[in-house]
Amino acid sequence: MSDTLAGVAVVGSANLDLVVEVSRPPLVGETLLGRSGGRFAGGKGLNQAVASARSGAPTRFCAVVGEDEAAEVLAETLADAGVVAALCRSAATPTGVAYVLALDGGDNSIIVAAGANAELSSEDAVAGVEGAAVVLAQLEVPAASVAAAMRAARIAGACTILNAAPAQQAAIGMLADVDVLVVNETECVELGGVERLHAAGAEVVVLTQGAGGVTLHRAGQDPVHVAAFPIDPVDTTGAGDAFCGALAASIAQGADMEAALVRACAAGAVVAQQLGATTPQLSPASIAALVSSR
Ligand code: RIB
Repeated sequence: MSDTLAGVAVVGSANLDLVVEVSRPPLVGETLLGRSGGRFAGGKGLNQAVASARSGAPTRFCAVVGEDEAAEVLAETLADAGVVAALCRSAATPTGVAYVLALDGGDNSIIVAAGANAELSSEDAVAGVEGAAVVLAQLEVPAASVAAAMRAARIAGACTILNAAPAQQAAIGMLADVDVLVVNETECVELGGVERLHAAGAEVVVLTQGAGGVTLHRAGQDPVHVAAFPIDPVDTTGAGDAFCGALAASIAQGADMEAALVRACAAGAVVAQQLGATTPQLSPASIAALVSSR
């Protein structure tokens, strides 16, 4: 990592999450009564930026939102978390919306209407990562823009982290510019498995396994497993994003990979114990408390 670079830059999606707590998804043709519901800031990019900032790293976020009230909700959440947000406004398209079913036991089902997220340009993405020591992106925005940001960050000497969520084959073509690839078990299978990812250029693959913890796969080395923190989950929406954001923050703060993964697991556990994908309960102190409880 170059000495002239600082902080974390996140490029990605910003959504308004419409969350309903319900015991199971509805069947086709069925109307189901949920329990409580709510509107929360969301989107994998926004969630990751908030988690990075709440983990203690100076954090910037680049995204596209609409000219609507939802965008104001998102801007407020980013400001509350201390994220420096470069939100482009689309006059033509509304802010992205996610319909989230928070199911019993902490699982969820999510449908996303991308809206303005589909308009994130390569130019904006490249500008958004300039000067950052760690660059983090996901795949809810145009893949070409993510690829351009990763390329620019790599050339500048930043550490690049790609969370290939949702899984897209386009991720494979970016791996030469990616220092750390984060995938869950489903995404890993969709992209062909750890060995294929190594063969395609991913030196470091972090496989997240929910309550099973995470496994660090470094090409040519034995895998290293990091256990999850035991919790009673309330809503796992955004737990994976908190993991990615805290991972980026820890690397920017100089932690080694294994220590960064422990802190990232703790951040995911903090978020999973609250409703919504971002939570003020996430802080350097709450992460440290969980880490030291081990
Ligand atoms: O990872 C969780 C996020 O996925 C939600 O906040 C939702 O907006 C979707 O992008």
